Amino acid sequence: MTISKKVRRLMGGSSWVRKMFESVPQLKAQYGEDNIFDFSLGNPVEEPPRGFKGALKEFALNPVPGMHGYMPNSGYPETRRFVAQQLSEETGITFTEDHIVMTIGAGGGLNVALKAILDQGDEVIVPSPYFVEYEFYIDNHGGVMRLVDTREDFTLDVEAIEKAITDKTKAVLINSPNNPTGVVYSADALRALADLLRTRSRGTPIYLLTDEAYKTIVFDDIVLPNVFEIYEPSLSVVSYSKSLSIPGERIGYVAINPQYAGAEEIIGAMIFANRTLGYVNAPALMQRLLPLTGANHVGPREYQQKRDLLYGALTEYGYSLIKPQGAFYMFPRSPIEDDLAFVTDLQETFHILTVPGRGFGKGGYFRIAYCVSMDVIERSLSGFEKAAKKYGLR
Ligand SMILES: Cc1ncc(COP(=O)(O)O)c(C=O)c1O
Repeated sequence: MTISKKVRRLMGGSSWVRKMFESVPQLKAQYGEDNIFDFSLGNPVEEPPRGFKGALKEFALNPVPGMHGYMPNSGYPETRRFVAQQLSEETGITFTEDHIVMTIGAGGGLNVALKAILDQGDEVIVPSPYFVEYEFYIDNHGGVMRLVDTREDFTLDVEAIEKAITDKTKAVLINSPNNPTGVVYSADALRALADLLRTRSRGTPIYLLTDEAYKTIVFDDIVLPNVFEIYEPSLSVVSYSKSLSIPGERIGYVAINPQYAGAEEIIGAMIFANRTLGYVNAPALMQRLLPLTGANHVGPREYQQKRDLLYGALTEYGYSLIKPQGAFYMFPRSPIEDDLAFVTDLQETFHILTVPGRGFGKGGYFRIAYCVSMDVIERSLSGFEKAAKKYGLR
């Protein structure tokens, strides 16, 4: 055996998203580019905002001396100040550059945060369905993931979280807006969770880690609750992958709640983790571009239009699903219990690629990533309709 037994085991149960996505080139070659409807991966088709491209051009034409060099492991002070300023405006709480660590996207941010807080055997509670990489990220740092079901409508089940808390619980990791369900957790639910964590913390707190990779993609004028106001030992992991449509550029950050007494120590540990995980620092060019891109992001408006079209059509065809409030995913119930069989048939018969719910810890459902063009959604609808008829949805 040439590779680690553990990695072999983890790879075996690894990503259904990647499995579906990787079959796309062959399917396109077989049936033609326009006849494959790829809803498998959260890889946005939208281009980055114009301001981003302008800034990129500006830097290429007018390079700043030293702009390709190393920097503090937490990132450029001016970039962190920019992030801190935005967070201060959003939350009404004063952030400075010392509360921010720039990271390799949310993926890097989650690893940095988990490394900073986890000891071997510590448990992290994750509401399910969930972003499947969490299990690996937690394991990377000796932690153990404890899954807890959400309610029928995929909202937080605080009582179930309470039952899952043990002496080893170090953190609860939530993701809102959620991948794969599109649900946004309410301020009331977060307050109930915060009350629980306060009561059950002993000595060191149970941290609340919020993955806000889809922070800017929220619909129907919903305002994302301010977690920092709700719970002090909280860390927010944010990414520009989706808000600027630049997932390949790998830029994000972790912010610690300035009101938390242990903030300085945690930030120090995260800076150390950023370095020793080998990330060293987040990409220099991306950090320089962020302040120039300002508050521009790839709008929720377009995603909301796509949600409306797809949600309206799917419910009309008889699919059962919760209306997403954010991100760009929906998570309908599979018409048959075997979600893999349904997804395979959707792919083989109707050339629609989705991901089985079991890939997110919830069999019997399937995920549609609708960060594709409107045209792809429109042309896919007849396939979804035929599949609904085939499986007797109406
Ligand atoms: C819930 C969630 N968290 C984190 C990530 C990772 O994002 P990044 O590209 O910023 O590493 C993703 C990517 O799809 C995601 O869906």
